[in-house]
Amino acid sequence: MPPSPVKETEAMLEWYRAMGVDEAVGETPFDCFAAEAPAPSPRKAAAPSGPARAPTLLAGNLIEAAASLAELEALVAGFEGCVLKRTAKSLCFARGSDTARLMLIGEAPGRDEDLQGKPFVGRAGKLLDRMLASIGLSEEHVYITNTVYWRPPGNRTPTPEEIEACAPFLARQIELLDPAVLVLLGGAAAKSILGTSEGIMRLRGKWLSYDCAGRAVPTLATLHPAYLLRNPEAKRLAWRDMLMVKQALS
Ligand code: URA
Repeated sequence: MPPSPVKETEAMLEWYRAMGVDEAVGETPFDCFAAEAPAPSPRKAAAPSGPARAPTLLAGNLIEAAASLAELEALVAGFEGCVLKRTAKSLCFARGSDTARLMLIGEAPGRDEDLQGKPFVGRAGKLLDRMLASIGLSEEHVYITNTVYWRPPGNRTPTPEEIEACAPFLARQIELLDPAVLVLLGGAAAKSILGTSEGIMRLRGKWLSYDCAGRAVPTLATLHPAYLLRNPEAKRLAWRDMLMVKQALS
């Protein structure tokens, strides 16, 4: 049986959609496979020439244009490039103060976070709050977020693709907050922010550096509170790390 033109067109449109081509860019439809392309419309003529830019690059320009954390949150809320959004109930952008000097980055929202739409509000979050209180800090002194903004189904570890999809937003989030000190909670955050494959036990407890738009931000990787809940004997290491943070902020 000859292939149905309708089925072929549907397959082609599905392929476009999967490649991220989900928007018409001209007023008049044209056959871009024809030998001669039509003259560009005046609106398109003003646009930069060259190959069509990938959706991620377009998103990159928008992200750079976000002038405040609230604007960036609105962009993340409208972002469809991370599959985790499809299964999550809520966006977990951040918790804490937009003027905090200390920024903490965890791995991914869990069930409680998904229900409340805020990072670190479950058991691990309660422990994190106690750790911060032990060095005299509360929610108004800190800004907390994660490597991904939506809960991975069943609390699985986010994939490198999911982390990568959120990474440009996270980089801009750090830039906009411009923290004095950055703390990375666990291996996933350390890997995403520092681009290292070194394990958390080797990374923790020493000052590292994160390049925030040309400024070196003192950065400390430490154990994830969820790990500390499972391994209470490791709390003494985390306590040492918290004292380093306290000193750096003083
Ligand atoms: N664990 C994380 O890494 N982030 C949260 O928000 C909650 C638990």
